Amino acid sequence: MVKITPDEIKLISKYVLNVSGISLSQSKAYLIETRLGPILGEYGLSSYGELYHKAKTDIKKVIEKKIIDAISTNETLFFRDSGPFELLQHKILPDLIDRRSSKSGSLLPVSIRIWSAACSTGQEVYSMAIVLKELLPDLKKYNIKLMGTDISDAAVAKASYGQYNKFEIERGLPRDKLQKYFKSNGNGWKIRDDIRAMATFKKLNLMLPFAGLGKFDIVLCRNVVIYFSAEDKKKVFNKIVNILEPDGFLILGSTESMAGVCSRFVPRRYLKSVFYQLQ
Ligand SMILES: C[S@@+](CC[C@H](N)C(=O)[O-])C[C@H]1O[C@@H](n2cnc3c(N)ncnc32)[C@H](O)[C@@H]1O
Repeated sequence: MVKITPDEIKLISKYVLNVSGISLSQSKAYLIETRLGPILGEYGLSSYGELYHKAKTDIKKVIEKKIIDAISTNETLFFRDSGPFELLQHKILPDLIDRRSSKSGSLLPVSIRIWSAACSTGQEVYSMAIVLKELLPDLKKYNIKLMGTDISDAAVAKASYGQYNKFEIERGLPRDKLQKYFKSNGNGWKIRDDIRAMATFKKLNLMLPFAGLGKFDIVLCRNVVIYFSAEDKKKVFNKIVNILEPDGFLILGSTESMAGVCSRFVPRRYLKSVFYQLQ
């Protein structure tokens, strides 16, 4: 494996920070070598300096995409941490449906928009879709839209396809939900078409402006800003302030907190879970 020099670590770390917000520390030499080494091999490059220059001069940004796909940690699972999904089922969705029903009267369907801001390979989005389907069997009466976005093209493509192998399925997905909401097809299990149709997926870099996204009632931003600098974390949450409905809900990862990050969000507790609302 090609070894990375301290100068190259600085160069690559700065590049990765610029294109993705992901902050790699000096101790990440091994991570860079194991994740980006294969790209060196693929392009016949002999150093990380060469990779940097190739990425910078590639106007089609193919190398940038490959670097982001390789460096981003796409670790995820179905119903991760369970708490947020119980929160959605027992508190957030009933509250929102109640409020939106009285607002829209009985004529218009209740509209709810939900955004998974770093959806990785889609398990978070499909877990929410399953919660919705179980909570509201007459889903057609509602206008509920889920959107999953991620910076990684490969992750978004996989999320959009909605196909999972045995290992992925066994991580967090209860057996009854597998049988009810997935179809086995020899290569694994694919999410049922009606559940897939509840969601849209697209590439979005949280470092860039959230233009054209519209407003959301629920935002999940879990286990992504842990990779960002304190400054970038603040920028992301300040942008979320602008796209969240005034009575909307924000859910973070179970080890994350808003303390010292964005004073517009106040923490609220329900059972064992914390969620945030605008003050
Ligand atoms: C650890 S996964 C979390 C997935 C899911 N939210 C969960 O909690 O299971 C982090 C995801 O953040 C994405 N990510 C990293 N930097 C990003 C950025 N600047 N914009 C959007 N997504 C980003 C990665 O590609 C990865 O899929």
